[in-house]
Amino acid sequence: MWLRGLSRGILTELNRAVTSKAGHTMQGNRQLARVYVTRRIPREALRLLQDSGICDVKHWDSDDPVPRTELLKGVAGIDGLYCLLTEKIDKELLDAAGPKLKVISTMSVGFDHLSPEEIKKRGIRVGYTPDVLTNATAELTVALLLATARRLMEAVAEAKNGGWGTWKPMWLCGNGLSDSTVGIVGLGRIVPLDKLAEQSDFVTVHCALTPETNGLCNKDLFSKMKKTAVFINTSSCLFLHRGAVVNQNDLYQALTTGQIGSAGLDVTVPEPLPTDHPLFALKNCVILPHVASATIATRTAMAVLTVNNLLAGLKDEPMPKELTL
Ligand code: DGY
Repeated sequence: MWLRGLSRGILTELNRAVTSKAGHTMQGNRQLARVYVTRRIPREALRLLQDSGICDVKHWDSDDPVPRTELLKGVAGIDGLYCLLTEKIDKELLDAAGPKLKVISTMSVGFDHLSPEEIKKRGIRVGYTPDVLTNATAELTVALLLATARRLMEAVAEAKNGGWGTWKPMWLCGNGLSDSTVGIVGLGRIVPLDKLAEQSDFVTVHCALTPETNGLCNKDLFSKMKKTAVFINTSSCLFLHRGAVVNQNDLYQALTTGQIGSAGLDVTVPEPLPTDHPLFALKNCVILPHVASATIATRTAMAVLTVNNLLAGLKDEPMPKELTL
């Protein structure tokens, strides 16, 4: 159902919105832009879109992704698309949408779900959501780092499953943060990678996936790290994907042969990581389901920015955050 993009409660306005012969909803003399939203999104953002007065909104109002066939049908004839990183925006989808599509706004900073060539060819503008998730991601990096270094998941499991016996001096001891060195992969060439690996107690990854960084964290790098090193990857929410910066087979080897101490990952290849993946069997590996940006405030800010990008694109105005493909 196409919901009219009018101020809620302004029924008189609603009554004036009529459907033209071509199937477009009209607001007075103005034709409303058709927009498809591919998922349930924070209410504040949806309201902003519906209240803009310039669009008809079709909304897949579910926490689960819209089935591809449904999506291909739903986008036919749209002017604007609000999508997530779970929707592949490729030739098939763009063809299904047709020539009116002028703006795609993705509620993500990552954009590896978009086919840049196909989008550029059609002159479609793209909005995305950098910056608003940086703090949440930094917080989760610290949380994951502490959970991994201080062995919190093991400790919780022991407390629950009866492993908690008498207090023992060396039981569940991990590494603390005091006086430690944190090496950040991806801050440029301040320290050569070899040196960073050798000297750091904690190594966190903050780099985009490019041909140069694909598999950058591999057996060579792990072999240079301290045997107690804690390795963390939360780069998902800062950069275009993602887990592929880390060679997971090499990481598994490093964790099982004592080359490094432990690892914490918020991003894997593939996602979701199958529950029978060998990394899940390791006590010294903490895996989170891609939640670095998951605070209510951050997801709301991402959704509002996505709407503002979309509306600006529909109005041919500069977007708050436009992606140059
Ligand atoms: C993104 O925005 O690309 C993240 O991976 C999810 O927050």
